[in-house]
Amino acid sequence: MGVGRILGGAHSPYRPPAGRHSPARMQRRRMHEAPRLVRATYLWETGVRALHDHYFSTQPNSQHRQRTISVRARGQALDLVTDSGVFSKRGLDFGTRVLVEAVVLPERGLMVDLGCGYGAVAAILARVYPETHWLLLDVNQRALDLARRNLAFATDRAQVLKSDGFAGADEVLADAVLLNPPVRAGKATVYRLFRESFDHLGQGGQLWVVIQKKQGADSARAELGRIFPQVETVEKSGGYHVICCTKY
Ligand SMILES: C[S@@+](CC[C@H](N)C(=O)[O-])C[C@H]1O[C@@H](n2cnc3c(N)ncnc32)[C@H](O)[C@@H]1O
Repeated sequence: MGVGRILGGAHSPYRPPAGRHSPARMQRRRMHEAPRLVRATYLWETGVRALHDHYFSTQPNSQHRQRTISVRARGQALDLVTDSGVFSKRGLDFGTRVLVEAVVLPERGLMVDLGCGYGAVAAILARVYPETHWLLLDVNQRALDLARRNLAFATDRAQVLKSDGFAGADEVLADAVLLNPPVRAGKATVYRLFRESFDHLGQGGQLWVVIQKKQGADSARAELGRIFPQVETVEKSGGYHVICCTKY
């Protein structure tokens, strides 16, 4: 059955708004014409997004375009496999780089790469901290398949799981959670990931978040301050803020 039948076939009382000036059409046009910053703010506030693939699609439909990118960060040189339909497929995201350069982790324990994408954060930091264990979580199946390949060097201490936030990892109590949040999924999702991270950290555990100032770093920090007893902005670089939150 097609979407048209579900929403309103010829005999249905439902009539989708039609015509050049329908509210939905006008809204789309306003968004299309808005400057980038206004668009980003709108997406952040509402979570409303276009209907095509996004990096947080659970099953991206875009044609595969796998490639290998060479990454140098935190004193490590590594190759990572990426693909279309995942976040920052052409190279390490600048915000991710700022995060991995700033983070200080315990030498041992369980770290969660929340919203792992193709696994860049864990792939870099599992090399820097060779005795740490890693749990990688994401909703995007294509990203998870890549993350599994990119963490193959550490299969004995890295697990990759499909999970909306921590929903698929209920029992987990972590020493640290690292998050480059899916800002495009909207504020409600990002703030939920903050709260779930708090719930899944042990005493003394830390959530590390990187977020761009123009994408809401100040309001995100204020929200984190409502959840965690200690919140500190530990790095600012190129418009990105790294926020470290500690649970006591
Ligand atoms: C900004 S990207 C960061 C990816 C990766 N950590 C990096 O730095 O390259 C955010 C990631 O969060 C994932 N994501 C979105 N919503 C999520 C959710 N509810 N639970 C878990 N992951 C989610 C997206 O699929 C995406 O891979």
